[in-house]
Amino acid sequence: MNAAYRFDDWESPAPAAAAPVAPTSAPAPSTAVTQSLAPINAADKRIVNGKADINQLAPFKYPWAWEFFLKANRNHWTPLEISMAQDVHDYHHKLSPAERHVFENVLAYLTTSDILAMRNIGLAVMEKMSAPELQIYQARQVYEEALHTWTYQHCIESIGLDQQEIYNRYRVVPEIHGKIALANRRLERVMRADFDLTDRANLHEFALSYFFFAVIFEGCWFYNGFTPIFALQRRGLMKGAAEQLQYIMRDEVLHCAFGIRVVRELLKEENLTLDPEALRELWAEAEAAETAYAGHILRDPILGYNAELHVQQFRFIANRRARQVGVEEPFPGAGNVLPWLDEQANLRKEKNFFETRVTEYQTGGALAWD
Ligand SMILES: [Fe+2]
Ligand SMILES: [Fe+2]
Repeated sequence: MNAAYRFDDWESPAPAAAAPVAPTSAPAPSTAVTQSLAPINAADKRIVNGKADINQLAPFKYPWAWEFFLKANRNHWTPLEISMAQDVHDYHHKLSPAERHVFENVLAYLTTSDILAMRNIGLAVMEKMSAPELQIYQARQVYEEALHTWTYQHCIESIGLDQQEIYNRYRVVPEIHGKIALANRRLERVMRADFDLTDRANLHEFALSYFFFAVIFEGCWFYNGFTPIFALQRRGLMKGAAEQLQYIMRDEVLHCAFGIRVVRELLKEENLTLDPEALRELWAEAEAAETAYAGHILRDPILGYNAELHVQQFRFIANRRARQVGVEEPFPGAGNVLPWLDEQANLRKEKNFFETRVTEYQTGGALAWD
């Protein structure tokens, strides 16, 4: 990666497809310090089932993972730094009922979603990684997902929405629940304590689950999920909430890029190929859930945005993600119907960040510990 790295319109060549191979016995997992005292060899590190000492950062086998950690730390903010004053006025006095419906339901989905994202990385993925440079980025990712939850809560609170009602919405609206339930099923399959990755079928299940979370859940659903609020922002509405979401989107783009890199390396290292039929099923499920969701949040179109555009853009982004992983495009021919979405993701905020922030966060000597 270099300074010119763009947040989302990157594409890298697909790895050579590995031929499916008969199950082999993988090396025994080991996170313990080896018996004999000797320096570690970076070549012994693996994405999963590694043999090298997990407590030693360098020498790196995956220096790109460390770069991701450094890059993530350049997108630090807290929701308190962005003024929501105008949003309170917009929500109560400017938004139409259809726009309020969109805004509330997007928040209701996102806030539950980010908790799931946090649990996936922190509880199902991180403990299976066997190189510290991977775990360190993922530790940051866990924090960022918590920060995103705080951000939604801050939006809900500052606008004065009914928390009880908003947070329960995914429990009572089937179209919101559908996406969460699908993700929960994927998560639960790999979060079992007895999930042994030396078993090839389990390894495939894990790779597929990681693919789902990085590529679909974060790379498509999140990426595309902020768009209805960006559509309001483009008309000068809910600009504080939209700015909050832009910071979140930058995190999510990195989460997705990192996840895709991990999946590619994992497939290469383990000589594993994702089953095309399982992938087709995954995309079909994701598309059906997203279509139902779009039908609910946009049951009435808003100015410049409707359910059809939302679903078309999902398909377009899905194809991009598939190319980035190196698997077949699920929706050939899908067009880029919302080209401004990528501008939103790649926006370099550094220039005006310090002009728009409204508070200083405490650093170094200024920290108060009581
Ligand atoms: Fe997130
Ligand atoms: Fe994420």
